[in-house]
Amino acid sequence: MAIAEGLIQSGYINPGHILITRRSVDQLHSLERKGVMVSSNNEDALNYASLILLAVKPFQVNEVLSKLKGSFKRGKHILVSVVTGVSIQHLSAHVPEQVPIVRAMPNTAIAIRESMTCLAAKDIDHEQFQEILEMFNQLGSSVKIDEKLMDAATVLGACGTAFAMRYIRANIQGGIEIGFDAATASLIAAQTVKGAAELLLKKQTHPEQEIDKVTTPKGCTIAGLNEMEHRGFSSSLIKGLVASYQKIGQD
Ligand SMILES: NC(=O)c1ccc[n+]([C@@H]2O[C@H](COP(=O)([O-])OP(=O)(O)OC[C@H]3O[C@@H](n4cnc5c(N)ncnc54)[C@H](OP(=O)(O)O)[C@@H]3O)[C@@H](O)[C@H]2O)c1
Repeated sequence: MAIAEGLIQSGYINPGHILITRRSVDQLHSLERKGVMVSSNNEDALNYASLILLAVKPFQVNEVLSKLKGSFKRGKHILVSVVTGVSIQHLSAHVPEQVPIVRAMPNTAIAIRESMTCLAAKDIDHEQFQEILEMFNQLGSSVKIDEKLMDAATVLGACGTAFAMRYIRANIQGGIEIGFDAATASLIAAQTVKGAAELLLKKQTHPEQEIDKVTTPKGCTIAGLNEMEHRGFSSSLIKGLVASYQKIGQD
C-alpha cells in the first residue's frame, strides 16, 4: 500500500493503472477511492498487469506463487519481490523459466518516498531493469547490487533505519539532560541528522571532511567525539551491523 501511495503521489503512474490484491479488500478503500483497482483474486493482477509486485510475508510466498504458476507468461510478466530473505532462485521455482525476476529491498521510509532500495535481478534486459529502477527512484533512491549482497543490504539499508533511530533517540536523551524539553530536543536531533545526511548526499563528500569543518582545535566538538570513540562509538556500531548480518545468515 505504501508503494502504491508513493507512486500515485509522485505522479509516476495513473492510479487507474494499478491493481492491488489482498484477501481483505475492505482494507483497500482509501486506495480504491483514489481510482486504484482492487481484487481479492491474485490472478486478476496477472491478467491485467505485466509488472507484478510481490509484497507478502516470507512464509506466504510459496502459497501465493504456487497458485499462480500457470498464470505467469514469458514475454509479458516481470516479477518484482520485496519479500525479505527469499532468493531469486527460490522465486524462480514458482514462475516459468525466463520470466524476469527482480528482488528489491526497500526500507520503511518508502512510506514518505525516502526509501533506500537495493535491487538485484535475473533474466532481465537493461531497458526493463532501468524501468524498475526508475519506479523505485520515485520512492527515494535505488541502486543495483549483486544478489549475494542482499543480506548486507538488508542490514545496512533496512535495519539501518532502526540503528539511525537509536542514534537520534540517544541525542534526544542527551539533549534533555543538557536543558531542552523533549519536543525541542527531538526536532533539533532529527533535523540535524537529516541535514548531515543531506550534506553527504548533495555534496558527495566523505563524513570526515564534514567533521573537519565542525572540529575547532581544542574545541567542544572534538572533545565530545573523542570521548565517544574512547567509549567505543564506531566500534559498537560496526559490531552491531556485523551481529545483524550474522543473524540473517543463521536464519
Ligand atoms: N515494511 C517494510 O519496510 C519492509 C521493508 C523491506 C521488505 N519488506 C518485506 O515486504 C513484505 C511485506 O511487508 P509488509 O510490512 O508490507 O507486510 P504486511 O503489512 O503484512 O503486508 C503483507 C500483505 O500481504 C497480503 N497477503 C497475504 N496473503 C495474501 C494472499 N494469499 N493473497 C494476496 N495478498 C495476501 C496481506 O493482506 P491480507 O492479509 O488482507 O491478504 C498484507 O496486505 C515482507 O516480506 C517484508 O519482509 C518490508
